[in-house]
Amino acid sequence: MIKDYPRIATLKTADDFVAEVKKQGLDIPFDPEVTPAPEGALAQPFFLPNGRKIGNRFCVHPMEGWDCTHDGKPSDYTVRRWRNFGLSGAKLIWGGEAAAVRPDGRANPNQLMILDETMSSVEALRKGLIAEHLAHFGTIADLLVGLQLTHSGRFSRPNEKTKLEPKILYHHPLLEKIYNVSPDTPVMTDDEIDDLIGYYVRAAKRAQVIGFDFVDVKHCHGYLGHEFLSSYTRPGKYGGSFENRTRFLREIVKGIQSECPGLLIGVRVSIFDFPPFRPDKDNVGYMMEYRDENGRYPFAFGGDPDHPGQVKLDEPIAFLELLEEIGVQLVNFSAASPYYNHHVTRPAYFPPSDGYEPPEDPLVGVARHIRVDAELKKHVKNLACVGSGYSYLQDWIPNVAQAVVRQGMIDFVGLGRSTLSYPELPADVLNGCTLKRTHICRTFSDCTTAPRKGLISGCYPLDAFYKGLPECQQLKKMKKGLL
Ligand SMILES: Cc1cc2nc3c(=O)[nH]c(=O)nc-3n(C[C@H](O)[C@H](O)[C@H](O)COP(=O)(O)O)c2cc1C
Ligand code: SF4
Repeated sequence: MIKDYPRIATLKTADDFVAEVKKQGLDIPFDPEVTPAPEGALAQPFFLPNGRKIGNRFCVHPMEGWDCTHDGKPSDYTVRRWRNFGLSGAKLIWGGEAAAVRPDGRANPNQLMILDETMSSVEALRKGLIAEHLAHFGTIADLLVGLQLTHSGRFSRPNEKTKLEPKILYHHPLLEKIYNVSPDTPVMTDDEIDDLIGYYVRAAKRAQVIGFDFVDVKHCHGYLGHEFLSSYTRPGKYGGSFENRTRFLREIVKGIQSECPGLLIGVRVSIFDFPPFRPDKDNVGYMMEYRDENGRYPFAFGGDPDHPGQVKLDEPIAFLELLEEIGVQLVNFSAASPYYNHHVTRPAYFPPSDGYEPPEDPLVGVARHIRVDAELKKHVKNLACVGSGYSYLQDWIPNVAQAVVRQGMIDFVGLGRSTLSYPELPADVLNGCTLKRTHICRTFSDCTTAPRKGLISGCYPLDAFYKGLPECQQLKKMKKGLL
C-alpha cells in the first residue's frame, strides 16, 4: 500500500514541518528556535510537592528488551540499555522497564522480575545507570529513577515466547477472538486479586531497599492494571463502578504507603483507549466492531462507549483526581495498547510485523497524545505529568518538546524509541548541539518486530551495537520470510 502522507525525514525545514501540520489541520505546538540550558524551558527544574528536585523536563519512558535471564535477572544487554538511559541526560527515568512482580505475570519469559532472588542484580542495574549519569553530568542529586511494577494479565507469556497464559479480569469478545483465547478461560477471582496486591507491595519494598526513588504501579497498554479500569462488566468488588475498578490501585497504594514510607509512587496509565484494530485486505488497520445489548462498546477506559474510537475524558479526569487524593506524585500518560491498536500508543510510519499499516497519518496520533495530555493537565494540581508519543516527531522533537513544556501543556516530555536509537538526544538538545540525523529514530518498528519474532529487542537499523549482532541478520531474513 502506498501511504499518501509524507515521511518526516522528507520535511527538511521547520517551515516544511509547520506547513504539513497546518495542511492537515492539526494542532502541534512548535517553537522555531530551541533555547539550550540554562535558559531554555526544557532545562528548567521541576519540584515535586515534597520539594524533591528533578533537574530538567526530559523523561525516559520504560522500555524492555526481552533480554533478561529466565530467572528474571538483567543480562549484559539490559545493563547496556539502562546505562544508555543514564547517559541520555534526562533527569526523570520512568521505570527503566517493566519488572514483573511475580513469574506468572511476565509478558515474556525474558522479562525483568523484582523478587528476593533478583534484588541484587536489579540494584546493580540501577547503579549502572546512576554511575553513567554521574560520569556524564556530574551530579545525581536532581535525578529521579523509578521502577515499573507490572503483571501482564491478559498478555502474560511467562514460559514460552509464543504461548499466552492469560490472566483475565473479564471476557473481552474481540481480544479473545484475536488471540484465540477460549471463552472458558477462568477470570481471576477476587481472592486471587487480593493475594496479588501483596506481591506489588513486597516488590515496591524491594525497590525501595535497593535505592529506587519511586515505583510505577503500571496501568497501561492492556496489561492487568489497565484491564481493571475497563472492568465495567465484571461483578464483585473489582468491577462495575469507578470505585470498584480502581480498588486494585488504591489497595496497592495504601499498602506501599504503609510498608514503604518515603517511597514516591507514580502511575503510568493508558488514559484513553480504542477498540482493537486489525489489518484489512490491503494490510491497513481497521477498527473492529462490537456493541453490547445497549448498543455501546463497553471495554475502553477513556473511550466514548457511544462513539468507539473517540476520547471521553470524564473518567480519566476522575482518575487523576483520585491519584491526587490518595497521594500519588507522578503520572505518565500513555494510551491504548501496543498489541491491539499500536498506531495509537506509538505512532509509526512502518508497522511491526504483527501489526497493520497506520490508518491515519502518524502525526494525527502525535497530535492526539498532545491534545489529550494538555486537556488532562488542566485538571491536575499536584502531579508531575509526563507525556508520550513524541518519537515520531523525529528531527522536530526539540521544537515541539520546548513548545509544549513552555506553554505548560505538559511537565515532562517522555521519550521511548528515540532513546533506543539516539540515547543522548536530550543532552544534545540541552547543550544546543545540532541533532545527529543518522541516529534519529525513523519508526521502523524493528525494536517491536524483533521480540514479536522471538529475538531480543533493540534498534537494529540504527544502533551500531545491534547492527553487529547475528540477530540483525536473522531479523532481516525473518522480515523477508526466509526464516
Ligand atoms: C521496544 C519497546 C519496549 C517497550 N517497553 C515498555 C515497557 O516496558 N513499559 C511501558 O510502559 N512501555 C513500554 N513501551 C512503550 C514506550 O514506553 C512508549 O510509550 C512508546 O514507545 C511511545 O513513545 P515514543 O513515541 O517516544 O516511542 C515500549 C516500547 C518499545 C518500542
Ligand atoms: S528499531 Fe530503531 S528506528 Fe526503528 S522504531 Fe525502534 S528505535 Fe526507532
